[in-house]
Amino acid sequence: MQSFLKKLEAAIQWRLKEAYLPPHRHKHREWTHHDLQFFAKGADLLSTAFTEGRSILPKNYFNKKEFRSAYLLYFVLQNFVKVYKCLEQLVPGPQSLVHSPLKILDLGSGPGTAALACSVFFKDRPLEVFAFEQNEGSRKDALALWQKLAPSHHRLSFVRCPTPPKGTVDICIAANFLSEVPFNQQIDFCTSTLKHSNTFIIIEPALRITTRQLMKLRDILIEKKKGVVLAPCLHQKNCPMLAAGPRDWCHFYIHWKCPQIIRQVDQIVGNKHDYLKMAYMIFGATRSQEYTPGSLWRTVSSPLISKGKRELILCGDCGFLKKIDRLNKDKSPHNFVFDQIRRGDIVEWPDKSRVEKEDKIKIIRKF
Ligand SMILES: C[S@@+](CC[C@H](N)C(=O)[O-])C[C@H]1O[C@@H](n2cnc3c(N)ncnc32)[C@H](O)[C@@H]1O
Repeated sequence: MQSFLKKLEAAIQWRLKEAYLPPHRHKHREWTHHDLQFFAKGADLLSTAFTEGRSILPKNYFNKKEFRSAYLLYFVLQNFVKVYKCLEQLVPGPQSLVHSPLKILDLGSGPGTAALACSVFFKDRPLEVFAFEQNEGSRKDALALWQKLAPSHHRLSFVRCPTPPKGTVDICIAANFLSEVPFNQQIDFCTSTLKHSNTFIIIEPALRITTRQLMKLRDILIEKKKGVVLAPCLHQKNCPMLAAGPRDWCHFYIHWKCPQIIRQVDQIVGNKHDYLKMAYMIFGATRSQEYTPGSLWRTVSSPLISKGKRELILCGDCGFLKKIDRLNKDKSPHNFVFDQIRRGDIVEWPDKSRVEKEDKIKIIRKF
């Protein structure tokens, strides 16, 4: 994936120059710092809108070239990595996907971020992606990037409705799209999507309000038996974090090698992207058998380090949250794995709240 990120970065720079830079700024063929500054203002505005509330954005903000170009510059690389991470989380794994070519539906595709991530993730398999996108400029961006980057055995076409042209798709992806649909329409939207998708991946920015809405939506879809959640949850009970109070939200971090172009924008706008934050849910029509219930827990906090101890919050296949800790004095070669557990990792642990000197804790799957 890392080598593809470099190609994507170069293709984005090419697209920005070709389609968005006014002709009088076309002096240099290569990408310059002046080009970067030209687009960075829009990136700053979009970034504020995505973190503080989209109400400051005009409706159909992608109608403005300023925002489409800023999105290409600053968000596509980040969202590409988030989609790729979710594909790695597929439960059961990609071998269970049966269509040939594999069929993917990319909802609110924008410049085709999720489509490209699928093209890289499934690089050895024939692939057909249907993209649903209202904005013509974004559709053109998606096509331009796709033609430059995707192999010839992968195909991209656009659909007018948020459904595949016929039959079902293996995976439907709504990356940073659902929060653009009013909450009262999201249940119907997801219900209909689940009817024609074997797996449905939703990715949202890791903001407290947006993520808690996603957690709520999850509970409703499960309660109404519209589908089952495959990840990050290990159970089908109501979300215990949502029930615990208004403070927390279930989100995850991706550690990555931040591309240069993003670092450069960060320097101009005063942001940092050493790691990416996201909230996600993967739904399926039926429950996966990959994990047999019993003592499995998803780590849903970063390590909480205080004087004398290290703590983690876990969400179990039993449907409960639990805080476990290990006193510094009990650190031992038996339980050293406790120091390696990060947010998102799945661990095996009996129903105990303290890791003691002789205890073994096992990481079943790194996030
Ligand atoms: C934040 S962008 C996400 C783009 C891409 N999925 C990504 O993650 O990088 C949301 C996209 O959804 C599209 N969109 C919003 N409402 C839509 C609708 N009702 N029908 C089709 N596309 C829509 C917007 O035009 C925009 O391209």
